[in-house]
Amino acid sequence: KFLANTIFLGKDIISLTECHSTNDLAMERVKAKVAAEGSIIISEKQTKGRGQRGNQWQSEAGKNLTFSIILRPDFLDPTEQFDMNIAVSLAIWEVLNDYANGLKVKWPNDLYHESEGKIGGILIENSIGSRGIDFSVIGIGLNINQKDFAISGASSLYNLSGLEFDRWEVFKLLIQALEKKYMMLKKGGREFLRASYIQNLYQFGELKSYEDGEKFLGRITGITQEGKLIIEKENGTKNHYGFKEVTFL
Ligand code: BTN
Repeated sequence: KFLANTIFLGKDIISLTECHSTNDLAMERVKAKVAAEGSIIISEKQTKGRGQRGNQWQSEAGKNLTFSIILRPDFLDPTEQFDMNIAVSLAIWEVLNDYANGLKVKWPNDLYHESEGKIGGILIENSIGSRGIDFSVIGIGLNINQKDFAISGASSLYNLSGLEFDRWEVFKLLIQALEKKYMMLKKGGREFLRASYIQNLYQFGELKSYEDGEKFLGRITGITQEGKLIIEKENGTKNHYGFKEVTFL
C-alpha cells in the first residue's frame, strides 16, 4: 500500500487505528530492544497524545498525521541534540511550505503561521546509553485536514491552503524529506542545516514583544550550540533562553 522512496526510513511501518501515544509505543519498543532504526509507528487516533512541556497533543482522529520515528543518532553528542530538532523541523517545513505560504518554524520546533497559528509540533525523546544518545524517538504531530479547533492558536494545512490532502501522500513526502535531512546531519551538514533553520525562523531579526518575567521588546538574533534562543533587547543586552524561559507575546 505504501512505498516511500527511501533507503531505511519507513521500511517498517506499524499502522494503528488507536493507541495512547505513538511516542510511548516507540519508546517501549526501544526499551524492549525490538526497534530497528527507521521504523515508524503511526496512529489514526491517540488517547494520550503528548506535547512539549508536559502538554497534551490534541488531534481529531482520522484527519491528521500523528507518528513517531525511531532513529539511532549515535554520531550526536548529547550537547548536540538540538541539531536533530533542527533537521526534523526543517524537513517538515520544506514539505509543508509548498502548500502553505508564510509558514515558519517557531522556536524551538513548531510549524507556525503568523496569522493562522500552530499547525504542527515535534516531541523528541532520547534514550541515553553509556556512549551517549542510544535511540531517539521523533514524535511528529501535524494538523492536515482538521477544520475546527477547540484551542485558539491552532490550525491546519487545510485552513492555510483551502485544500484537502491525501495524508499518505503527505506522509510519504515527509519521510523522504526527513531521511534526506537526517543523512545530511549525519554527513556533517550541521552548519548548513542551522543556517537554513535560522532563515525560516519565525520573527527572526524583527523587533517584537517577548516576556521573560517582564515584558520587553527585542530581536531574535540566533540560537546557541545547545539550541537556546538568543534575543537582543532594545538596550543591547543579549540573553540566552531555554525552553520555558521566554514567551512570545
Ligand atoms: C508539541 O508541539 O508540543 C509537540 C507535539 C508532538 C505530538 C506528537 S503526535 C505523535 C507523537 N506522539 C505523542 O504522544 N506526541 C507526538
